[in-house]
Amino acid sequence: VEFDLVVRGGTVVTSGDTARCDIGVRDGRIVALGERLGEGAREIDVTGRLVLPGGVDAHCHMDQPQGPGLRMADDFESGTRSAACGGTTTVIPFAAQAKGKSLREAVEDYHRRAAGKASVDYAFHMIVTDPTPVVLNEELPELVSQGCTSFKIYMTYDDLKLQDRQILDCLAVARREGALTMIHAENADCIAWLTQALEAAGLTAPKYHATARPPVVEREATHRALSLAELVDVPILIVHVSGADAIEQIGWAQARGLKIHAETCPQYITLTAQDMDLEGFEGAKLICSPPPRDEASHEAVWRGLESGLFQVFSSDHAPFRYDDVEGKKFAGEQACFHCVPNGIPGLETRLAILFSEGVMKGRIDLNRFVSLTSSGPARLYGLYPRKGTIAVGADADLAIWDADHRWTVTNDKLHHAVDYTPYEGMELQGRVMTTILRGEVVWDGGLFHGQAGNGRFLPRDRPCPRGE
Ligand code: URP
Ligand code: ZN
Ligand code: ZN
Ligand code: ZN
Repeated sequence: VEFDLVVRGGTVVTSGDTARCDIGVRDGRIVALGERLGEGAREIDVTGRLVLPGGVDAHCHMDQPQGPGLRMADDFESGTRSAACGGTTTVIPFAAQAKGKSLREAVEDYHRRAAGKASVDYAFHMIVTDPTPVVLNEELPELVSQGCTSFKIYMTYDDLKLQDRQILDCLAVARREGALTMIHAENADCIAWLTQALEAAGLTAPKYHATARPPVVEREATHRALSLAELVDVPILIVHVSGADAIEQIGWAQARGLKIHAETCPQYITLTAQDMDLEGFEGAKLICSPPPRDEASHEAVWRGLESGLFQVFSSDHAPFRYDDVEGKKFAGEQACFHCVPNGIPGLETRLAILFSEGVMKGRIDLNRFVSLTSSGPARLYGLYPRKGTIAVGADADLAIWDADHRWTVTNDKLHHAVDYTPYEGMELQGRVMTTILRGEVVWDGGLFHGQAGNGRFLPRDRPCPRGE
């Protein structure tokens, strides 16, 4: 036989092309594309199906150490299992520095957490919370040269946020090292001030989380981040952009010729702040930051997805259980929204939601879908063309879609360790029927076939040119 695997008769879609062809795989890589390829030791007939590059989820959290009394439900085993079952073959979660601690140790610790557990391939972003001279001048350059070529910084959360001066220091290192800086843009003082006023007025229900973080709070921080990047003359990426106000700033900066990249997430095309107005404390299930906005923002996000203003569509999977003895979103009926850990699960539903709401409803085409969910993040974060495309030489990571399959999202169908999904009851059209990682089937026929430990760490290229 000529190949280890032949995927035969499908419609192959990349960010640039759509074509009927067979895919020949040897040693985990694509070695041939064409019509009527020779025999494979294994053959998969995908006539009538779409064959897309496996998804790259460039923003998801798993097994990230939390403060006392709180724990993420997904470790690398359940997190990557859930990814595979949703068509995602590469994840980039976060190795987070704790204030006063070493960044290098955070990355080493994270390698130990992933090893032997991951069933899809993975890379690490870093989170820089304490940019000391040692971190800036020694640890960051060394870690970038070892393939952790992007890092996130926060403008909010007391235990994470950086001052503008510290952000400038980080951006200068990113410029020198050719790394990409991801920025969480929300104004911390505005949020603290609004939260205090809401609490004093007794407005503590989960829905007030959104009142405490209105669009102007994100807009101001987004503009400030763009300005700091302009000052240092370095590309940045604004993560989890929620709506019209922040989008307007990003469009303005891109039109000025600044190298500004942007990411959005499923929650910002599906959920609204009003949806958080639920019985009891249930609204906590939708608490994420920035919060979901409104229908007008959904429309603005769709325009940005269609136009190319956004290059990345990630889940921002943050696996906190609603009810659990080991830390949860349910803080008690009378608790204040600000006690609830931020973030919602979505690794497994990310692709299906964008496919159904975007491609099936005619808002974006299939090639744009691939670009946003796979090739865009692979390019931006230094994984392309090994990941993010279907081409000779690329890893044989494939998601085989049935575009006609209609299904309803329910948490019991998902494979994460979270006890709810914010998308419960959502009706979708289109589903990944089979996921292939480096030529091995990891999801098929409604069953997970992956193997903890088969996922490999991916050292990444430098995303940006190095400046002096
Ligand atoms: O609310 C969110 N998004 N939590 C996850 C952490 C982050 O800021 O991305
Ligand atoms: Zn964030
Ligand atoms: Zn909507
Ligand atoms: Zn996040």
